This record gives sequence, C-alpha cells and structure tokens, in this order.
Amino acid sequence: MPARHHVWLLLAAVGLVGCGDDEGTRADGAVADAALVDAGGPRDAAADADFTAPMLLSETGLYSDIASKTLAADVTAFAPRWQLWSDGAAKQRWYRLPPGTHIDSSDMDQWRFPVGTQFWKEFARGGRRVETRLLQKIGPGEDWFMVSFAWNPGETEAMAVPGGVVDDPGHDDIPQQSECFDCHAPVRLASVVIGFSALQLDDATRAGGSPLAALVAAGQLTAPPTGGSATTPYFPLPAGDAATRDALGYLHANCGNCHNAGSDVKFAVDLELRLGLPLTAWSSSAAVRTAVDVVNQTAAPPPGASAIIEPGMPGASALYLRLTSEDPVFRMPPLARELADPVGGEAVRAWIAGMTPTP
Ligand code: HEC
Ligand code: HEC
Repeated sequence: MPARHHVWLLLAAVGLVGCGDDEGTRADGAVADAALVDAGGPRDAAADADFTAPMLLSETGLYSDIASKTLAADVTAFAPRWQLWSDGAAKQRWYRLPPGTHIDSSDMDQWRFPVGTQFWKEFARGGRRVETRLLQKIGPGEDWFMVSFAWNPGETEAMAVPGGVVDDPGHDDIPQQSECFDCHAPVRLASVVIGFSALQLDDATRAGGSPLAALVAAGQLTAPPTGGSATTPYFPLPAGDAATRDALGYLHANCGNCHNAGSDVKFAVDLELRLGLPLTAWSSSAAVRTAVDVVNQTAAPPPGASAIIEPGMPGASALYLRLTSEDPVFRMPPLARELADPVGGEAVRAWIAGMTPTP
C-alpha cells in the first residue's frame, strides 16, 4: 500500500493552508501530481483524454459557490434508508446525472449509471466538515474515478487526498483511493454505487415522499418499477418482525457490498448479507439462509465465538462480535471505522437474541 501522508503539512508546504488569497487556486508540483493518480483499473483512452482529475472540491461542480456552501442548481440531495456507520460522522450525500441521461434500472438490484454521473458524500464531525468523497463515472462499464477531498480548517475549500489522511480530526482516517475500491468495486458488487439503489430509496415514510417515486416521476429510470407511489412502497418490506427488519437492513447497508453472492469475498466467507428485490419473507433472505439456517462454522473466530451465528446467543456469534469489535484483527467492516456502532450493534444483538436456540 502506498504510504499515507499528513496532507495539511504538505499543503502548508505548498502554501495552501490558512492564507485566504491562495485558497481556491490550484497547487502545482508534487501534491498536484499525486492527485492525478487514477484509482481505476484499465482505462479507456478516450475517457482519459476527456477527464481531468479535479484537485479541489470546488472544481467538481458540487457547489456554485463553495464559500457560502451554495449547491449547484443541478445537484440533488439523497439519503439511503439504512446507512453505513462511520464512527458517528454526520453525512450528507448528493448526485448529478448528465442532462438528458437515464439510470439503467433493467437490473433493479444493480443500477448502472451514465458516463459523467457524479456522487458526493460529505463527512462532518463535531459540527465541522472533515472530508467530502467523490465518485465520478469516467468511462463505459464500471470505470469510476474515486477520491476524497479533505476540508481546510476554515472550511473554505477541500483538497484531493489520494493518499488518504491518518487521524483526521475526530475519529477514523480519510481512506486512500485504493481503499475506496475495497468497497466500491465490481468484484465486490456489480454496481459501484452502493447506497443509491431501488431498495435504499424505496422509502415511503419520508417526509418529502419516497425518493424512488420521485425518480420514477421524473422519468429517470429506463425500466421504472410499478405499483408504488410517493406514499406507497414499490417493493414492500415483509410485514411485522421489526427486529429482523432493523438487523437485516443494517447488515445490508454495512456489510452487503462485500458479503453478497457475486462478491470475491464469497470465496473466503460463505456469507451473504445483502438484501435483494423483491423481498418476499425475511426467512427466505440470503442473510437468513447463509447465516442462520446453516450452522456456519467460523474460519477466524473472535474470542468466544462458536459459529457465525449461534441462535439466541449474540455473545457466541462471530457476526455480532465482529460487528461490535474495535480490534483491527476482527472488526467488520475491516476498514473505514474504528469505533463500534451502538445502535447497529444493538439491532443485531436483539435479532440474534430473539432466535430460538438450537437444541
Ligand atoms: C468500508 C467500505 C467503504 C469504503 C472504504 C468507502 N466507501 Fe463509500 N460508501 C460505502 C457504503 C456502504 C455506502 C452507501 C451507504 C451510505 O452512504 O451510508 C457508500 C457511499 C458512498 C457515496 C455515495 C454514493 C453511493 O455509492 O451510495 C460516495 C460518493 C462514496 N461512498 C465515495 C467513497 C470514496 C471516494 C471512498 C474512498 C475515499 C469511499 N467511498 C470509501 C462504503 C465504503
Ligand atoms: C470491505 C469488505 C467487507 C465488509 C464491508 C465487511 N466484511 Fe466481513 N469479511 C470481509 C473479508 C475479506 C473477510 C475474511 C477475512 C476475515 O475473516 O477477516 C470477512 C470475514 C467476516 C466474518 C468471518 C467469517 C468467519 O469465517 O469467521 C464475519 C462474521 C463477517 N465478515 C461479518 C461482517 C459483518 C457483520 C459486516 C458488516 C458489519 C462485514 N463483515 C463487512 C470483508 C468485508
């Protein structure tokens, strides 16, 4: 893995930190070169010619005025109903589709986005912006540019940090580009975009109405689902059993991008924690099938674990112990968090505790 660096020391060295007039200008030299590293696999030459990696967040088109945090008019906010735990960071997310384009929804579980699509995710801790991550589709197939931008102390600009930042203010680090690919990669999940999906947006309980219904109404899907509306889900969740719903939703969002049927992780761990559509009954979901119905032996048990899930016994279940572990050897997800999520941990504990123990 490439060495990480303390980016603000480097930025200070090139004169970008703390002096208002310099902020917003492009830095030349070593830092700029480093930011042009592309995280993708083999690249399309034509796309390469068209695409210039942004160095500053203000160059990505998220804001029309970054100083006042005024968003560009064609950027839309969204939030998945179940979210990734990031050591308690407050997150905001936005996207932009190129004008006149559509999302290919022919596979409702794996949407494909047009070239030029952008997604951003902002992380704030203690009321101040720390980083904003960018996914930008730059070529056919699943060719995406990925990088995080670290905000300066005055929050007037954020600078690409392809090498990541260790110990950003607050908890956890800003991932380097190769770490984006640990989670956002076709070998893990066919769609590189994880949280902007039919299941995650089909939330008819939202104050403003279902985000999926808004996409359908705007004609943005090539194969729109039917039967739902702003206040009625297109893919209703199985009725009842709130404990199972909360646990499986949490595992879908936090684990399903690595632990699913099509992932390379499946070769090492026979565990599927991603929900697929339609959802007929929780008992027939892949998570229940692979983690509960079979006595799933653990290859690398944390202390106390005797199986992936021991029905009725969270404390003997590797899945619960790893989800709540802060030990880098065992914690899941293995990267991009340092602290355990008290809410998600409790949802999974309650789900396992409510199962009938195997005699
Ligand atoms: C531990 C796995 C993990 C790592 C590492 C990771 N992400 Fe994500 N990312 C997710 C998950 C899961 C979601 C969707 C859930 C959510 O947003 O709460 C997501 C959402 C996003 C989104 C919103 C669009 C979408 O896919 O839903 C962007 C943008 C994004 N990530 C960018 C990045 C970038 C850039 C990096 C590297 C600097 C990165 N991520 C590293 C797991 C990860
Ligand atoms: C970035 C990809 C990634 C994410 C996200 C991820 N895992 Fe894992 N997981 C792995 C890999 C790789 C292994 C195998 C290596 C190991 O055992 O640590 C693994 C192993 C495991 C094991 C051990 C299986 C055994 O045989 O003992 C469990 C349990 C597990 N993961 C649960 C989870 C849970 C729960 C989540 C979400 C909270 C999660 N994982 C998220 C990649 C991931």
